[in-house]
Amino acid sequence: MTQATRIILAKRPQGAVTGDCFRTEKANLPALAEGQILVETLYLSLDPYMRPRMTELNSYVPPFELDKPLTGGGISRIVESRNPKFAVGDTVIGAVDWATHTVHDGKGMRKIDPNAAPLPAHLGILGMPGYTAYHGMIRMGQPKPGETVFVSAATGAVGQVAGQLAKLKGAHVVGCAGDDAKCAYAVEELGYDACFNHRKETDYGAVLDRLCPDGINVDFENVGGEIFHAVFARMATFGRIVMCGAISEYQDEKPKPGPDKMFSIIQKSLRIEGFIVSNHAATMDEFVREVGALLRDGRLKSRDSIVDGLEQAPGAFMGLLEGRNFGKLIVKVS
Ligand SMILES: NC(=O)c1ccc[n+]([C@@H]2O[C@H](COP(=O)([O-])OP(=O)(O)OC[C@H]3O[C@@H](n4cnc5c(N)ncnc54)[C@H](OP(=O)(O)O)[C@@H]3O)[C@@H](O)[C@H]2O)c1
Repeated sequence: MTQATRIILAKRPQGAVTGDCFRTEKANLPALAEGQILVETLYLSLDPYMRPRMTELNSYVPPFELDKPLTGGGISRIVESRNPKFAVGDTVIGAVDWATHTVHDGKGMRKIDPNAAPLPAHLGILGMPGYTAYHGMIRMGQPKPGETVFVSAATGAVGQVAGQLAKLKGAHVVGCAGDDAKCAYAVEELGYDACFNHRKETDYGAVLDRLCPDGINVDFENVGGEIFHAVFARMATFGRIVMCGAISEYQDEKPKPGPDKMFSIIQKSLRIEGFIVSNHAATMDEFVREVGALLRDGRLKSRDSIVDGLEQAPGAFMGLLEGRNFGKLIVKVS
């Protein structure tokens, strides 16, 4: 019998997530039924969308269940299999519990070649966040040479890829991030033309007027809230707003008002479009080919923020919501 250590949703948060929302427990896992696999988690991805799932809010993914393990994308190794599609020793990617081991029915689980790229890359630049950046920036934002592109959370899992892709299209790319080291990294390593520290330069309108004097043609929106309001007011005619995320709003107990002068959408012929990357899974191959090649050629870089040990997951997740991660946040479990 396998004993798993797992992290349980003990309480739904009110406002900011607190440590008592989580509980660690040990559980004896049941013997496998026909069709099931037992996986050992190697790496677990922590992502902002998990915060809304901690509430009862019904969204495009169902809420986490109280007193059950939280779940997320992970890279795992098969340790036992009663499913003909998987053999012991296979490395797989797919949803698992926040746990050392998960019993799984194999649905949505995909084998990966452990030698093709470092394993964490499959959860970052070559995985869901990278594809989010590709779909949002290349297919929706469609930046053109010389246009101004703005990316919030510029050095995060999605933002770092989105900004680099816009640069490769010849755009003038401006970002914001939560500390000076992140901003320096954005400019010196990722190739952003400018990046401001949104915790220090809080007159967002003034800093955007300085860094984007001709207005903003493409906004890749990760953060929402007041930063978005200032960007919205500075969109250029025929601008495209790619609504990828609104992390600054995920812990709000009451929704905040949106930006002023919504009629400027008409005046400036703006396009505002949201998306959920999982709805575009069928066309992921194109991204894997293109971004894989750019990564191999050294034309794209990525940075991960890896914490060691499952017990670190709750603290690391709370840190993500406060900007303590620097790059794609991953937990090394085993
Ligand atoms: N639409 C989709 O299908 C899809 C898929 C994946 C992700 N997303 C969204 O994309 C966004 C980025 O996700 P990610 O995985 O790349 O996360 P991430 O950027 O790696 O981490 C989150 C970052 O958000 C910033 N942040 C947190 N609270 C903030 C606040 N109150 N104000 C301003 N910035 C704040 C912090 O960066 P700083 O220190 O730089 O402030 C933090 O490091 C999220 O909104 C997420 O929900 C959407």
